[in-house]
Amino acid sequence: MMQGKTIVIGVTGGIAIYKIADLCSKLTQKGADVWVLMTESATRFVQPITFQALVRNPVLTDTFQEPNPSVISHIDVADRADLLLIAPATANVIGKLANGIADDMISTTFLATKAPVWIAPAMNVNMYAHPAVQDNMSKLASWGCRFIEPEEGYLACGWIGKGRLAEPMDMLAQIEAFFSEGTCQKDAALLKVRQDLQGIKMVVTAGATREAIDPVRFFTNHSSGKMGYAIAEAAAKRGADVTLISGKTNLARPEDVEVVEAVSAEDMFREVIKRYAHADVVVKAAAVADYRPKMTYDHKMKKQPGDLVIEMERTTDILAELGARKTHQFLVGFAAETQDVEANARGKMERKNTDMIVANNVSQEGAGFGVDTNIVTVYLRTGESYPLPQMDKSQLAHRLLDFILEARRGKVE
Ligand code: PMT
Repeated sequence: MMQGKTIVIGVTGGIAIYKIADLCSKLTQKGADVWVLMTESATRFVQPITFQALVRNPVLTDTFQEPNPSVISHIDVADRADLLLIAPATANVIGKLANGIADDMISTTFLATKAPVWIAPAMNVNMYAHPAVQDNMSKLASWGCRFIEPEEGYLACGWIGKGRLAEPMDMLAQIEAFFSEGTCQKDAALLKVRQDLQGIKMVVTAGATREAIDPVRFFTNHSSGKMGYAIAEAAAKRGADVTLISGKTNLARPEDVEVVEAVSAEDMFREVIKRYAHADVVVKAAAVADYRPKMTYDHKMKKQPGDLVIEMERTTDILAELGARKTHQFLVGFAAETQDVEANARGKMERKNTDMIVANNVSQEGAGFGVDTNIVTVYLRTGESYPLPQMDKSQLAHRLLDFILEARRGKVE
């Protein structure tokens, strides 16, 4: 699997660097051609000779150090990479990459390569949670970089929390899976948008449903469809085969996505269930009505003296139905909450048998209905939760796809 694959590893200055020595050794033993780039700070933790001995290639630490006069090092290494992994990635390098700064071997190679880029952050828990770092990561994710999320645990700085570099065996497993899936592609036309969802059939729902009272009136909600459309668009760009089941919206159809219109909750149920058996991933971002009028008038209702009472009945809970019929699918629900967000989100995950819930507190400014941004926490079936800062729905879509990809890989294995 690794034979003939060139993996370029950008090592930056963090205490977790020792794990990368182990990873380099394992990759080399598996037959990969491993090249190591180090920042100046990384060389203060470990001497380049350590990596050179492990990978049997020169370690590049300086853009002006040109060991081979027939090539320019950072272009040469960028071109030969089948995968560029930056690990451990400090807050500093993440900031540089997100802002196009190119002043060392890693940042110049990052800009020059057409290979998929993976970034494995490692830092103090509070640094990791800082909006500056989170924003930079979201920007990189929206360009197609994939993140290997750090783990929670004891950190070298004495804090306990999220920020510990993933274990070498886990990174190795992800790299092996990546090459064995055949998703590794150098794609000049698509710039850095990786094709890591190729072969995955995805159904996404978006927007509000409308429940008719009569031919001119209906019950609905404030969903604009932006969240679901952003997910469908990002997934299609990353190679997934996407069907978007959409309530009425004013949004343009995303490129390379099959769009199916569904007006009511019942329409949406029918269209989703039709495609369920062949779907690999279903993401339910739509705001579906829980109730509809028990009776729909054929003609416009006439005003009557006095109050009007409309009797309502439950619609089908599409997500719960999908959860009950789930076989191989990875099922993602949303939870639009205004209070007790965590308890409600976890409750929905249990009751509706989803693999992941994306909870938004829709009473927060910059989150939920109608706006271009969202603020969510991702809850996984395995128990972990990941609060994300406010970001554009298009950036968030990529982060959610990263979570789906990683969690689904764990589930399939
Ligand atoms: O469309 P935007 O303006 O961009 O706004 C985005 C959003 C706020 C709509 C989105 O982020 C969101 O939260 N979508 C889910 C809204 C919702 O209906 O939440 P809920 O907590 O009521 O439902 C939980 C889950 O069950 C959802 O995945 C929903 O799609 C699903 N559901 C609900 C009722 C029903 N009858 N069938 C369902 O499948």
